[in-house]
Amino acid sequence: MSIISDDKDFINKKSTKTPKENPVIKPDETDNDRNFENSIRPKNFDTYIGQTALLDSLKITIAASKKRNRTLDHMLFYGPPGLGKTTLAGVIANEMGVPIKITSAPALERPRDIIGILMSLEEGQILFIDEIHRLNRIAEEILYPAMEDFYLDMTTGKAQSAKTIRVTLPKFTLIGATTKAGNLSGPLRDRFGFIHRLNFYNNEELSKVVKRTAKLLDIQIDDDAAYEIASRSRGTPRIANRLVKRVSDYAIVKHDGKINKDITEKSLNILDIDKFGLDITDRNLLKLIIEKYDGGPVGIETIAAAIGEDIRTLEDVCEPYLLQCGFLQRTPRGRKVSPQAYRHLGYKHSASSQQTLF
Ligand code: ADE
Repeated sequence: MSIISDDKDFINKKSTKTPKENPVIKPDETDNDRNFENSIRPKNFDTYIGQTALLDSLKITIAASKKRNRTLDHMLFYGPPGLGKTTLAGVIANEMGVPIKITSAPALERPRDIIGILMSLEEGQILFIDEIHRLNRIAEEILYPAMEDFYLDMTTGKAQSAKTIRVTLPKFTLIGATTKAGNLSGPLRDRFGFIHRLNFYNNEELSKVVKRTAKLLDIQIDDDAAYEIASRSRGTPRIANRLVKRVSDYAIVKHDGKINKDITEKSLNILDIDKFGLDITDRNLLKLIIEKYDGGPVGIETIAAAIGEDIRTLEDVCEPYLLQCGFLQRTPRGRKVSPQAYRHLGYKHSASSQQTLF
């Protein structure tokens, strides 16, 4: 089992990406980020910012299960990366007063990986599986009876001498997280009693995240600067936290260590992150569709090949935010750029003619 961990030490094991492959704006985590993220993760409902509808309903579910002394229902959280699905699983474990084991579907490649984890669980424990849409079919089939009736059927021996042994498991709660709820098989999805989407954060919520992080870093920040960082964080706390770190480095080196709006703008401009939080990849994507395909529609494979990005990054990271901003539209024939995106990038928008920069 390569990635199993009890909450504290999973941090260093997940990503093999180098910072170079991992620009500041992408919500994927580097090992460095993960150490930082983990050190500032909120641990309970009181310190968790945003996702209020989800939190309200979780509080009731948790209170009910405590009152009846029952294990929590299995939960599925979905939504774009960096919105706090892992953090939330940790918060739930803390609020329930139970341990959590954290792993991710790509680490559960062989049957023995998932069997090993299931057999190591304690009564009431939370098992968190990230990227659960990537579980293979065998792992999924092992999970079905484990989730539903808390047992495993294990076969030993071969052919005529094969024997099936039924192993009873402690009652546990599976929390699955995915960026692609639609890729989960129906039978797996049906076994979750609590399914909830995590939404992008608004700028007010992200400002609170920014101020909380600055405080934990022992850096002074004013309201305008916090809002500026928030508005360039593409609705994503993980990006906001990373930007606070970058801006605070800049403030320490180039200024008096305090973060104001001017310092924030200067350092974020150096990182080439624009007013909407778009980076060079987002802008290249939009510009390609405008300049080469007259605004679209154009297929994602063509876009990926032309700008040299992989399709998964475009689909999981760039697109959700560009769709949310209203810069990109998805149609059955491919992606189209909206008039707002033309304006934001300084192009003149006219429905039928070649597009030109102002
Ligand atoms: N850091 C990451 N997500 C957060 C959240 N929702 N609240 C506070 N800090 C966070």
